[in-house]
Amino acid sequence: MPHPNLHFVHRGELVTLRQVPPTRTLLQLLRDDLGLTATKEGCNEGDCGACTVVLGDKRDGRLHYSAVNSCIRLAHSIGGMALWTAQDLAAPDGTLHPVQQALLANHASQCGFCTPGFAMSLFGLYQNQVCQGQAVSREQALDALSGNLCRCTGYRPILDAAQQMQSWPAGPVDEAKTLSQLELLAHTEQGLEANFSYKSPDTLAELLHLRAAHPQAQLVAGCTDVGLWVNKLHKEFAQVLDVTRVAELRQIVTHDTHLSIGAAVTLTDAFAALEASRPTLHTFAMRFAGAPVRNSGTLGGNVANGSPIGDSMPLLIALQARVVLASVRGKRELPLESLYTGYRQNVMAADEVLTHIQVPQPQATEFLRVYKVSKRLEDDISAVCLAVQLHLKDGRVAQASIGVGGVAATPVRARQTEAALTGQPWTPATVAAAMATLRAEFQPISDMRASSDYRRAVLGNLLQRFWLESQGESEVSLADVSLEAL
Ligand SMILES: Cc1cc2nc3c(=O)[nH]c(=O)nc-3n(C[C@H](O)[C@H](O)[C@H](O)COP(=O)(O)OP(=O)(O)OC[C@H]3O[C@@H](n4cnc5c(N)ncnc54)[C@H](O)[C@@H]3O)c2cc1C
Ligand code: FES
Ligand code: FES
Repeated sequence: MPHPNLHFVHRGELVTLRQVPPTRTLLQLLRDDLGLTATKEGCNEGDCGACTVVLGDKRDGRLHYSAVNSCIRLAHSIGGMALWTAQDLAAPDGTLHPVQQALLANHASQCGFCTPGFAMSLFGLYQNQVCQGQAVSREQALDALSGNLCRCTGYRPILDAAQQMQSWPAGPVDEAKTLSQLELLAHTEQGLEANFSYKSPDTLAELLHLRAAHPQAQLVAGCTDVGLWVNKLHKEFAQVLDVTRVAELRQIVTHDTHLSIGAAVTLTDAFAALEASRPTLHTFAMRFAGAPVRNSGTLGGNVANGSPIGDSMPLLIALQARVVLASVRGKRELPLESLYTGYRQNVMAADEVLTHIQVPQPQATEFLRVYKVSKRLEDDISAVCLAVQLHLKDGRVAQASIGVGGVAATPVRARQTEAALTGQPWTPATVAAAMATLRAEFQPISDMRASSDYRRAVLGNLLQRFWLESQGESEVSLADVSLEAL
């Protein structure tokens, strides 16, 4: 089967690469095919950030920049976008970019292996923030660098560099030219050949038609899960169907009753939308992977992948979110927890795709918290995740909904604990009874992340923390909560 050509913008110019195989990663394309070896390979699984590059796409008439991991991104996914690598920062005469100047001035590099990745994450921040006339806060710098690992330098000089990037004359990105090239690419026909090896349809109708005709094709979104199957399990796919360009799936629409988030909305944008009406979710959102993974990965990919330790699902279950599935036969809607039938198994038929996640708007009586327990604060997978939404009326629990991750083969709803809380006075005695119920409700496994006993103990403790926070104790740390023996 012939492979499609790949068209993108690099250094302001249109580039066409012929016959790019569907599972060629962007990092392989850069280093092996194009000889752009400034982009480094470290872990090859999205964890270290050495391979970070920046992608540009047109949003609201201007360029938006995203730092992503090139190692777990399929090369074809950058079709129609602009690309910058660490080799594109300095001006043609060798003048360093402000990002590079700042790293140099702050002695922010030792062995240097991580430095191209840090420079690219900072470049994305520089273009989105500094070039818009905004200073970079320490928190923004920390977030932008949350997917980059440095083993030598220590982070203080790198963070200092991030906050000093505005001190040098602006870098040489020609936005007007890049935008006009992207405009040209937007009108490039993809070709309608039935026998494709990689396809990124633009509309939902086209996606559903292709899905029905090619149910065996590997569906991909941000590829932050699938990329690992390619790199680590050496999976080859004869056909890849990429949902990330489908216009309907990229939209977030605010309704009076709910927020409708398209399945291909990135985790970065989905969490921003959720935080707009529920600001307490910010801390949790920052605990989901690191920024480059959130910039590629989608909410729909997280939900469809259905990992028992996926982080958005406990939250979405607690928020009573519903998912919309569609095929050429029509669409159907169901509660998120009903999507799953077993370990990474779900009710989706071979011709169906997940199109939207619908999240009810908050009510005045809502008290919501979501807790993630992992070995490392940043860029780590949950051992346990607990999300609790209570509606309190006249000192009683009018309604409780609780989502849990890390305790069963799928993300689950804690129905017994919900029943133990509903209708009860919101008192320490009710909380103690609910903690016992929650600890007994699931039989989690022991694995390298945590033992079964730890998972059950910590679940109860998190509910105690929820109680303390509902009493006005903000920012309760786990150290403040007793780890009771089972
Ligand atoms: C370094 C690293 C850190 C991570 N940290 C976290 C973390 O903290 N928490 C967490 O929950 N996850 C984490 N992940 C996992 C991953 O990032 C998320 O699961 C992400 O949301 C997957 O989305 P995606 O768009 O990349 O999905 P993909 O990898 O593209 O797809 C995943 C699966 O979903 C299916 N799929 C995608 N879109 C659709 C659709 N519209 N309809 C039907 N099926 C679809 C695909 O066929 C595939 O089976 C991490 C991954 C990495 C590499
Ligand atoms: S090589 Fe480590 S994140 Fe890509
Ligand atoms: S300078 Fe050596 S890994 Fe960062």
